[in-house]
Amino acid sequence: GTPQTRTPTGARTGVPADAHAQQGAHLTTAQGARLRDTDHSLKAGPRGPVLLQDHHLREKITHFDHERIPERVVHARGAGAHGVFTGYGTAEAVTRAGFLRKGRETEVFVRFSTVLGSRGSADTVRDTRGFATKFYTDEGTFDLVGNNMPVFFIQDAIKFPDIIHAAKPHPDREIPQAQSAHDTFWDFVSLHTEAQHHTMWNMSDRGIPRSYRTMEGFGVHTFRLVNAAGETALAKFHWKPKLGVHSLTWEEAQLLGGIDPDFHRRDLYDAIEAGAYPEWELGFQVFPDTPEETFAGIDLLDPTKIVPEELAPVQAVGRLVLTRTPTNFFAETEQVAFHVGHLPPGIDVTNDPLLQGRLFSYVDTQLTRLGGPNFAQIPVNRPHAAVNDMLRDGFHQHAVHAGVAPYRPNSLDGGNPFPAGDDEHAFVDVPVTVAQAPKVRANPASFDDHFSQARLFWQSMSPVEREHIVRAYTFELGKCYHQAIRERQLRCLAAIDPVLCAEVATGLGLPVPEPTGPLPEVTPSPALSQVGREWPAD
Ligand code: HEM
Repeated sequence: GTPQTRTPTGARTGVPADAHAQQGAHLTTAQGARLRDTDHSLKAGPRGPVLLQDHHLREKITHFDHERIPERVVHARGAGAHGVFTGYGTAEAVTRAGFLRKGRETEVFVRFSTVLGSRGSADTVRDTRGFATKFYTDEGTFDLVGNNMPVFFIQDAIKFPDIIHAAKPHPDREIPQAQSAHDTFWDFVSLHTEAQHHTMWNMSDRGIPRSYRTMEGFGVHTFRLVNAAGETALAKFHWKPKLGVHSLTWEEAQLLGGIDPDFHRRDLYDAIEAGAYPEWELGFQVFPDTPEETFAGIDLLDPTKIVPEELAPVQAVGRLVLTRTPTNFFAETEQVAFHVGHLPPGIDVTNDPLLQGRLFSYVDTQLTRLGGPNFAQIPVNRPHAAVNDMLRDGFHQHAVHAGVAPYRPNSLDGGNPFPAGDDEHAFVDVPVTVAQAPKVRANPASFDDHFSQARLFWQSMSPVEREHIVRAYTFELGKCYHQAIRERQLRCLAAIDPVLCAEVATGLGLPVPEPTGPLPEVTPSPALSQVGREWPAD
């Protein structure tokens, strides 16, 4: 976390020691041969054809031809920064994690992102924002891969390809680029009504943050903590911004999308360069680890539910300060690879079925995105803890591993490396009891309540916030081509709150459905099978 400054010429100080400055006196080839000229290809005479033997020309163009890697399948557009996390020591009773000890400083890299747009899309669109933090702790890397909203669209990761297919641009015309204002999005969230709570957050001012510096962050899932004595607790993670939570108005977001599509990325960079270091407090909501895994009747394994802070206050456990902008966007922000399974001793997963699927998905996608299994060796992904992993070879292997026995036990390398056993710094797989139960593709009954927390959210809003929510639903649904989808979403709103439903229906010029009317069916009606094939004019 070295603070850095810019000289008037734009050259930076505070660049990490392993950065390749490329500012030496001599231009060279990739092999280090000095070059006399890089502006003219080697030709048979000034007007002649270019010679195949021009190695510099081919090396320069071939490398350029391969500069792009696939963008992330979601969260493609992001901005990152380095910083420092300092533990308060207040969490020691509930977790053995060393980075939370009082006064302990840990380097971090944070990447903020939109979810749906491509790498070149605008910052200020209505969308969820990613808030992913890599803590380089001395007990191994901890990735807290969260969002700026505390709930998620779906309860089971098996639906993730479906919600993303629905929320990304239409497959035929590739629009809209990054907004939720389209038929497939509303088709999905009105059929999978568990999405209604997250959708309400999206339609609120939280969907258009003013700055990354003014966003809250949430781990969303419930995690299991374990302390030095082996006692466990359940917890939800929260980031609280020092500057408070602020949003853009819809008009500001629209104007900025045209005037400065890089608004959030610029804001983050400029603030850090100016020394106005963004800050957050990390906080835990802690719950007893009971066999039911509920708190105040709320199922802690359901990622579409929050636990209101009135019932379980957020207790501060440490402070994050972002102090350094990336030296190279591609090397750091683009190549950083987060994973919800990167956990330090003291923090473990729960059976939340959304979290369980994420444990599989991130490394799988990164194998393609970052070209093979060795991306943990990329500088931004390197743990700051010592690594002795017995993983060998593979594409882009940078380590020259010494020793002959990458297996355990062995008698050739002195037995090294040894498992840590009961070492206090070793990761703890909490020995929770796994139920004896039949295999099923089913949710617990508690996952069936899809509307009460959306209602709670709506009812907690001030009049002006409600007005913004009504306008957002009206605008976004107004962009749908299919009347049947608008009507189905109105029936969902009726199940949430009659006033909200009536105001949106009026804005859309549609009749208000009965508040007690039938809830949407999860089986599509014949008319809906037309989606994507026919575009009725309504
Ligand atoms: C990327 C958050 C659910 C798959 C991301 C990123 C964040 C995030 C912040 C961007 C990381 C970065 O900046 O590099 C969340 C949250 C979720 C959630 C908070 C729910 C609570 C899921 C689920 C899946 C999934 C259920 C799949 C089953 C992915 C993939 C990426 C990604 C494939 C791209 C990763 C990469 O290319 O490195 N997610 N996500 N996410 N997420 Fe999630």
